[in-house]
Amino acid sequence: MAKNFEQRIPHYTGRVEAKLDAVLPAAGVKPSRLHEAMRYAIFNGGKRVRPLLVYAAGECLGVPEAPLDSPAAAIELIHAFSLVHDDLPAMDDDDLRRGMPTLHRKFDEATAILAADAMQPLAFAVLADVDGVAGEVRAKLVKLVADACGSTGMTGGQSMDLGAEGRSLEAAELEHMFALKTGALIHASVMSASLLAGAVPPEQSAALDGFGRAIGLAFQIRDDLLDVEGKTEDIGKTAGSDERMNKATYPALFGIEASRRRCNELLAEGLAHLDALPEAAALHWLARFIVARGK
Ligand code: IPE
Ligand code: IPE
Ligand code: MG
Ligand code: MG
Ligand code: MG
Repeated sequence: MAKNFEQRIPHYTGRVEAKLDAVLPAAGVKPSRLHEAMRYAIFNGGKRVRPLLVYAAGECLGVPEAPLDSPAAAIELIHAFSLVHDDLPAMDDDDLRRGMPTLHRKFDEATAILAADAMQPLAFAVLADVDGVAGEVRAKLVKLVADACGSTGMTGGQSMDLGAEGRSLEAAELEHMFALKTGALIHASVMSASLLAGAVPPEQSAALDGFGRAIGLAFQIRDDLLDVEGKTEDIGKTAGSDERMNKATYPALFGIEASRRRCNELLAEGLAHLDALPEAAALHWLARFIVARGK
């Protein structure tokens, strides 16, 4: 094993991308335009943070790599579907994603809606098929990801985000929205490894749970900061998009300084949870990356 997690990233992104390539129908399979669009949404240079969290949490609990490929790919499919919908004119109306035209710009709106529609069930098919684990564990994985994706998870958070445009929220209300729209999938990434690990002592499972929640919130605050402070060419998304859409973001409501402070506080909270876990170096590295990243 390479010495530090950063050196193992290409190995893990290679694994999840191979899995994604294997489960996505080839672009030549009919309807070709739909399959081409799904592949465009996936193979366009995402950071793969959620899959990396799955593998890092797996390292922490000593889970073999092969079964981790399934939640890693499934959660990336859900994430990619959420981004395609998030960029639509009806939502954030964005033209650039991962440095390339958004799916509805490259193809058309109907194809973008359908590609996202098809990525969601594909994610659950991947979870239903996870190799070498008991049926009960597979069912738990499906439920974990379904809850994280649904109306009390990511989709609910996206609904709250749209309802919050132009409004001034209390910090607790804003963080509740962040916990749902972004935190839920990040939390599920970490917890999927715990499900695959089997009998995890309750204090370790609670530590992963707390870590996932803290880091999920920090992730969205960093994303909001990058929208204000980042350059379009670095972040691969049009800078200033949140202000244009009058989004309720941490920097817009509480300022840059308070956003940085809250991000660091959440990092410290997340790292403190890791003390209860064995072999947490990979999660340590990812948590620091999440609050310091430049894209
Ligand atoms: C962007 O997520 C959307 C949010 C939930 C804030 P990422 O920053 O992980 O996007 P990619 O996958 O690397 O493009
Ligand atoms: C999106 O939050 C969260 C999702 C569930 C997709 P943002 O709207 O801030 O994400 P970006 O900045 O467009 O990636
Ligand atoms: Mg949005
Ligand atoms: Mg957006
Ligand atoms: Mg954003």
